[in-house]
Amino acid sequence: MLADPGFGRVFTEHMVSISWEEDRGWYDAQLRPYAPLVVDPATAVLHYAQGVFEGLKAFRQPDGHNAVFRPDANAARFRRSARRLALPELPERAFIEAIELLLQVDGEWVPAAAEHSLYLRPFMFAHEVNLGVHPAREVTFMLIASPSGPYFASSVKPVTVWLSTEFSRAAPGGTGEAKFGGNYAGTLLAQAQAAEHGCDQVVWLDSVEHAWIEEMGGSNLFFVFGSGTRARLLTPRLTGTLLPGITRESLLVIGADLGYQVGEGRISSAEWQSGCADGSLTEAFACGTAAVITPVGSVKSAGGEWVVGDGRPGPVTMRLRQALVDVQRGAAPDRHGWLHHVRASD
Ligand code: PLP
Ligand code: COI
Repeated sequence: MLADPGFGRVFTEHMVSISWEEDRGWYDAQLRPYAPLVVDPATAVLHYAQGVFEGLKAFRQPDGHNAVFRPDANAARFRRSARRLALPELPERAFIEAIELLLQVDGEWVPAAAEHSLYLRPFMFAHEVNLGVHPAREVTFMLIASPSGPYFASSVKPVTVWLSTEFSRAAPGGTGEAKFGGNYAGTLLAQAQAAEHGCDQVVWLDSVEHAWIEEMGGSNLFFVFGSGTRARLLTPRLTGTLLPGITRESLLVIGADLGYQVGEGRISSAEWQSGCADGSLTEAFACGTAAVITPVGSVKSAGGEWVVGDGRPGPVTMRLRQALVDVQRGAAPDRHGWLHHVRASD
């Protein structure tokens, strides 16, 4: 199982929990053996879904110690998600200390194999036993960790995507930019519909015009125009309805470091299709903590289907992927100070 852990199926031996009560603030931080929770059937999160989560990874470094990729950015996003869901904001220092604590006891669980890492899952939920609809007065933060291989069965095999016009993931003023479980529950039916059309993933369009590309499943999207050193990268700008991905933000920086023109903007499904038809749009890929960088090979929608480039992983996609993975695994200089090193003795 550890040689082929898949994603999110195996968990390490410990977990961290911190309690919060309205009158006391945060208290009782504990590192304890991984174990099931006992929950009262009237626990608020089970009914009204008041809960948020994060996802980040620890990577084994060449000298054997572990490093976490950009935990400060995840800690900040966790606070923003909590605020949106009327949950208390965990101080960023506590978020990072929880990760350090868990890695100090379970650091051996960080896989060393290529494409493998320890996926860290911090989360927080309304623990109050009460069926009234109000912000919880009792909340629990937890951190668990899962040694993981590639999220998709073959990580660099291009995916086929379904452009959903029947369902929407997020609406202006909603919860789309928070890492909130309900955003994911609402997508499962669309994901099943995508599978019925022979697609691996759903690509979400804006919910007002059903025209503008937002994101894909649990990842953001990038489009490549042109080729070689003159290639230009475009990712949908943050409108409030898509998740501000940390991989997305990192790739905007890495892309510029590699000399590409990078930008945030708008692209419609019609422009995606016509760009592929006239050859100006050469590559597309999804990016995220779990997904890393996954090429998009072809697109299907109610209005037609098309292939991106020649349907195979493109050179710009693969170059960016390698550059990202090299920083994460300590094979390239960490120019932007993105790695948070955790040594056994820290
Ligand atoms: N979009 C959604 C809906 C996600 O769940 C994720 C995964 O975290 C992403 C984008 C990518 O974000 P990140 O790069 O921070 O993992
Ligand atoms: C992540 O990449 O951390 C995600 O949250 C994607 C998915 C597993 C929900």
